[in-house]
Amino acid sequence: MTDLYAVIGNPVSHSKSPLIHAEFARATAQDMRYTALLAPLDGFADAVHAFQAQGGKGMNVTVPFKQEAWRLATRLTERATLAQAVNTLKFEDDTILGDNTDGAGLIRDILHNLGFSIAGKRVLLMGAGGAARGVLQPLLEQQPLSLIIANRTVAKAEELQQQFAAYGAVIALDYAELAGNQFDLLINATSSSLSDALPPLPAGIFAPHSLAYDLMYGKGLTPFLTFAKQQGAARFADGLGMLVEQAAESFYLWRGVRPETQPLIASLRTDLC
Ligand code: ATR
Repeated sequence: MTDLYAVIGNPVSHSKSPLIHAEFARATAQDMRYTALLAPLDGFADAVHAFQAQGGKGMNVTVPFKQEAWRLATRLTERATLAQAVNTLKFEDDTILGDNTDGAGLIRDILHNLGFSIAGKRVLLMGAGGAARGVLQPLLEQQPLSLIIANRTVAKAEELQQQFAAYGAVIALDYAELAGNQFDLLINATSSSLSDALPPLPAGIFAPHSLAYDLMYGKGLTPFLTFAKQQGAARFADGLGMLVEQAAESFYLWRGVRPETQPLIASLRTDLC
């Protein structure tokens, strides 16, 4: 019987997940169907339970329901517990397992697709919202030399510093305090690109050979990546690779099969241009 999956969000029609999972299913010969489900803003839990009752096997969760999914799950993976957000649900008998594959997707994109090792590197993470929280522990697992979180509202970065102290050394700073430092890997996990802005970064913080990574993606360079280029960063990446890799990680959790990702990233890139 064909297994049912869906991405649930509001809005959701823009989501590339149905296309990505259809391609994964085709490439790995999995008998499954994956659709997009628009849930009312006050009807997330009902929509999830209804999908489960119809025989659904799992869901991806997108904006604005990731925190609600975290609360709804009856069992959480460690990485979802720490992220305080869930982007993947797996229905097993009476259990709703909640996972968060965003951080793993980012790390896989950086390590495997971009061939950039994080171990021993000076890392700057910009932002202290949900997106930053979701990638912190997977980043620390890579054992960077240092990890600085910069945020406009420093108190939020300090909160993350405290909460993640057990997983590695994290230092919270104001953007202005970055002046005089250089980083090998700079990750924009703020939502600044949505308003066509970039974090207030001082000049001179991109080390030669540095990689600038923006969790957002779109046609052309984001404002942060444009700044990185002007500032002499050696390499740039947007979040398209992470999008496909987090999907592959969800697919693996559901199906036990790891799909190839690079051909799909390449074809989605072509579609964007
Ligand atoms: P998300 O789930 O995408 O992380 P969020 O939890 O609302 O969204 O967090 C948004 C993050 O982007 C915050 O860290 C926010 O900084 P503040 O906490 O200081 O508000 C950051 N952000 C948004 N716009 C920004 C901008 N123009 N410059 C710098 N940081 C910005």
